Amino acid sequence: MTGELETLRKQADDELLKAETEAELQILRTRYLGRKGLITGLLRNIARVLPADRALFGKECNELKDEISARIDTMLADIAVSKKRKALDSERIDVTLPGRGIRYGSLHPVTQVREEICGIFAGLGFSIVEGPEVELDYYNFEALNIPRDHPARDMQDTFYVDENTVLRTHTSPVQVRTMEKRRPPIRILSPGRVYRRDSDVSHTPMFHQIEGLLVDEGITFGDLKGVLTVFLRQMFGEETALRFRPSFFPFTEPSAEVDIRCVICKGRGCRVCKQSGWLEILGSGMVDPEVFKNVGYDTEKLTGFAFGLGLERIAMLKFGISDIRLFFENDLRFLNQF
Ligand code: DAH
Repeated sequence: MTGELETLRKQADDELLKAETEAELQILRTRYLGRKGLITGLLRNIARVLPADRALFGKECNELKDEISARIDTMLADIAVSKKRKALDSERIDVTLPGRGIRYGSLHPVTQVREEICGIFAGLGFSIVEGPEVELDYYNFEALNIPRDHPARDMQDTFYVDENTVLRTHTSPVQVRTMEKRRPPIRILSPGRVYRRDSDVSHTPMFHQIEGLLVDEGITFGDLKGVLTVFLRQMFGEETALRFRPSFFPFTEPSAEVDIRCVICKGRGCRVCKQSGWLEILGSGMVDPEVFKNVGYDTEKLTGFAFGLGLERIAMLKFGISDIRLFFENDLRFLNQF
């Protein structure tokens, strides 16, 4: 029987020497030490051993069991250590590699243009005022001297919320709201979203405008020309040629549209300026006394001028963008260019 024990020890020794993996060692553990394992098998046959030798035999079996178990534990521990070392080696961080870099965002082109314009007018003493986008018919139309039958009120152009409420079609209502609350001198600029039922390469149902208003005693059309000239030259360059064209707006009298020499073709004529050499940039005029009356201003003493311009149009000219819808698609390939 001790012979069998010796053979088993040898066999275990051989097999353990050959074992390389965790899985192989687990198999050996079951094979030798398991409940149906080889050593247990020997012990089960203890009846065949002479009674006098049984105690010794049992002891030796248990010693062999402990020995094999200890060896397997040591080998498993070694494997775990070398596995960890390999992992550490392969996952080592090379601190000398260049970093990934921070991706900077940028301001939307319309925001850039808004900030530039607001900055120029801030330098001229204008302050920023905002008004509601859901606006009363009264402020959007009535108080601005746009009568009930004016074409601008056509259902085609205006989004109506209800009979007396609209999505503002321009930023001009902020003029009225401001004058209702304040006494002159007034110098304000009002940027914001406006809405019209219109959609093609140069129109979107929502776009941005900036409204300007200056009211005081003794303000003349000369002041309007001076301020707008300073603004447009700062915006488009000191040598920019300007043209004030007579026009009509219900809320100004007289009114003028202001053109700049085409920034694309420098006046030679191109697709953008429709061969005219000029680009229409803004609408303006001397505030109509009817508007002053609606806010209770003394039309004998006070005069002022107002102007309004579309931000997308300016951004399109400045950045050479041909389709206004690009501004609102949030395509990063487009936005990353600014
Ligand atoms: N509100 C006008 C529009 O949306 C733009 C405008 C023209 C505003 C003349 C003014 C102005 O203040 O005087 O087309």
